[in-house]
Amino acid sequence: MENKLNNEDEKCDEIKDSASNAKVDESEKALDTEMKKMTVTETITENSESGSGEDGDEKFVHPVRILTEAEIAKLQKDVTCVSDFKQNKLEKEAQKNWDLFYKRNTTKFFKDRHWTKREFDELCPVEAETGRRTVLEVGCGVGNFIWPLLQEDQSMFFYACDFSPRAVQFVKDNPNYDPSRCSAFQCDITNDDLSGNVPQDSVMRPGGSLLFRDYGLYDYAMLRFAPGHKLSENFYVRQDGTRAYYFTTEKVLELAERCGFDRSQSQCEYVQRETVNKKEDLCVPRIFVQGKFLKPKSS
Ligand SMILES: C[S@@+](CC[C@H](N)C(=O)[O-])C[C@H]1O[C@@H](n2cnc3c(N)ncnc32)[C@H](O)[C@@H]1O
Repeated sequence: MENKLNNEDEKCDEIKDSASNAKVDESEKALDTEMKKMTVTETITENSESGSGEDGDEKFVHPVRILTEAEIAKLQKDVTCVSDFKQNKLEKEAQKNWDLFYKRNTTKFFKDRHWTKREFDELCPVEAETGRRTVLEVGCGVGNFIWPLLQEDQSMFFYACDFSPRAVQFVKDNPNYDPSRCSAFQCDITNDDLSGNVPQDSVMRPGGSLLFRDYGLYDYAMLRFAPGHKLSENFYVRQDGTRAYYFTTEKVLELAERCGFDRSQSQCEYVQRETVNKKEDLCVPRIFVQGKFLKPKSS
């Protein structure tokens, strides 16, 4: 399916997203310049079964993105991964590196995400429903996901966490921050216990949903990494030490299944945002993976 979308916020957001790499690396600087020029048209392509790698190599077949021969050759050549020593260092310093990212960029990097209700019905108000709906956002950054929703829907309450203390402080300092409607806290979701910050059973109750969105396989930014940035299959480090994993839908489904979500009740797909500059005949295919996982009512 292909339809036109005029969504300045998401477009700018994704352009800026790639621009983060550009600040510190020459090859990525070129990308920044290239993407800043892209202001003309944006199209969305959702899953279709038609995509294929041009050289017929199964490994590079993708449901929404057809790789060029040059892109396939680049991926095939980029086989050397960063040393174990550096990988361990990056793992240990993950929190510090994201915190430094927010020190450098403050609240100016990501734009408010006004598209979330369009992508996730679950975030829309339910007419017959009374009482408040509670959402926990993991990796909230400086709050760009929660601000539009807080303004539009009085019935929502947000818990929002991030492992960068600076990002959390930016959330709390934002004029939209209202402690009666949201609670931001610092935590490393891979290690910390949430119970001190999120009352038990207030999120992920039976009948609740897990909503997922992150970078997808063969996203434009993934194909732009220079050699020396690869950590493992589909996993890369940016020049500033922050890392990006480019998910396959299968990987996300597998992870969700491991956490007890029933595959038959799950939805997971690639979403393509194509930013086009007609004047320069340039097209930047951003790929995301988007998933919805339902916690059974009786478990
Ligand atoms: C790409 S940013 C997205 C920010 C925000 N969700 C938004 O939409 O603008 C990813 C965020 O995840 C946070 N993060 C990464 N690993 C984390 C972890 N283990 N625990 C909590 N937050 C984490 C980072 O600090 C960063 O703010």
